[in-house]
Amino acid sequence: MTIKPIETRPFDDQRPGTSGLRKKVRVFEQPHYLENFIQSIFDVVDATAGGTLVLGGDGRYYNREAIQVILRIAAANGVARVLAGRGGILSTPAASCVIREHGAFGGIILSASHNPGGPDADFGVKYNIGNGGPAPADVTERIYARSREIDGYRILEGDDVDLDGAGPFMLGETRVEIIDPVADYTSLMEKLFDFERLREMLTGADFAMRFDAMHAVNGPYAAEIFGARLGAPAASLLRCDPRPDFGGLHPDPNLKYAKALVDELFDPAGPNFGAATDGDGDRNMILGREFFVTPSDSLAVLAANAHLVPGYADGIAGVARSMPTSGAVDRVAEKLGIDCYETPTGWKFFGNLLDAGKITLCGEESFGTSSNHVREKDGLWAVLFWLNLLAASGRSVSELVTDHWREFGRTFYSRHDYEGVDSDGASAMITALRDALPSLPGRRVGDLEIVSADDFAYTDPIDGSVAENQGIRIGLAGGGRVVMRLSGTGTEGATLRVYLESHEPDPARHARDPQQALAAQIALAAELARIEHHTGRDAPTVIT
Ligand code: G1P
Ligand code: ZN
Repeated sequence: MTIKPIETRPFDDQRPGTSGLRKKVRVFEQPHYLENFIQSIFDVVDATAGGTLVLGGDGRYYNREAIQVILRIAAANGVARVLAGRGGILSTPAASCVIREHGAFGGIILSASHNPGGPDADFGVKYNIGNGGPAPADVTERIYARSREIDGYRILEGDDVDLDGAGPFMLGETRVEIIDPVADYTSLMEKLFDFERLREMLTGADFAMRFDAMHAVNGPYAAEIFGARLGAPAASLLRCDPRPDFGGLHPDPNLKYAKALVDELFDPAGPNFGAATDGDGDRNMILGREFFVTPSDSLAVLAANAHLVPGYADGIAGVARSMPTSGAVDRVAEKLGIDCYETPTGWKFFGNLLDAGKITLCGEESFGTSSNHVREKDGLWAVLFWLNLLAASGRSVSELVTDHWREFGRTFYSRHDYEGVDSDGASAMITALRDALPSLPGRRVGDLEIVSADDFAYTDPIDGSVAENQGIRIGLAGGGRVVMRLSGTGTEGATLRVYLESHEPDPARHARDPQQALAAQIALAAELARIEHHTGRDAPTVIT
């Protein structure tokens, strides 16, 4: 087999966003586009030292083609060993687990997360480092810089690897091992959770759950863990057959895109527990009967009750949340006497804190929760954690959350997304807000008083790296907040995210509808940011 050097010219749009390089499939299909980016990764990361690379994706359209290309470029760049998920499959948390278990120097994960899949939809490539987590900004920036000047890549000529075969295969000098995508991850879950107790609950007559894999990567993981290991009836596993286009839907577990599941759980005679995960298996949504758990509350409840779960029985070292995530977990940390860190949006900012042992649990309002067991958010882990809490406490989802509110107060929370708005208008809006920041503290809008206003900047406490311009943060008297930022994961136009929050200590006022409880914050955001003026929209496209 020969290594072929190919001449190429740089593309100028290969800067990784919040979570890797995400583009339309058609963009990735351009000649040399994927190849350039992969070569840029290998030019930045030393892959020749005899190490192992982990490779897999969420199974979306173009997954298999991309894997064949990456294998050949890896071989031509001297990677000694590649662990590839069978069929090209690895959920994002499973990839993180495999990188860590096998001491790999890194991994390449193919996914556009919760974005739709198919020939006209999205694809993505993300590089993870040896701790199993997303590459930090200095690495992604170096990859981007390299992509701007690249003039060639090396690729091995030869036949495709049989991703469904037993392996191992040799690609030139590179050994490609085909691994069971579910095995390492399942063993890890068995170590953290009380599988015996869970099995008892899931096979019991008075418990009914629904897990919706949204035709995405977690189908086989759910079949193994909930089905084979824990005995959940087949009828409780929904859409567990993965499809390259996710059945034509957004594989995003929220109130809009997992509507059938939500409707089933909101039936008064519905199941006790419902959950869904996203395209690459890292996001989760948790539902009880007639009850939706906001991801911010989920993190807080997990932190407050972690001692009930075997893997966390010795207590948690600290917690972290992304800046737009509600302050519910901060109150738990205060009670437990542990540190709580506020990081910019994106999982990569948790990595250093986890590696340094500063935190055990972390999460984002965007349906992401996880712990130090991997370096990614982990959808199935969150579902198992909740199930373990239900089994250990004997309480229902709604009882656990409403008890929590009684103790800590309720943090009303909602996110309003304005998707696909004009990029220039959205940027102009953020610039105008940024300029107005100094004039905001002390100002009243309706009944609300602004007490602080800034553009969030973060200094990593471990390595001192600084991330600026991470979102406009407006603090309100009484503990409420309004946060506004532009998405870093979209592939078309801009997405404006408005995060709304208020804190209510009085249990008599906890049953209110969040949109009503947050009406004043919603009005404040519209007025201060002049959302309609800049975006032409008078209402969000998605409310969660
Ligand atoms: C979104 C979420 C963010 C998450 C990321 C990757 O990024 O808001 O919390 O880490 O997806 O799943 P955004 O589009 O807001 O940049
Ligand atoms: Zn995801």
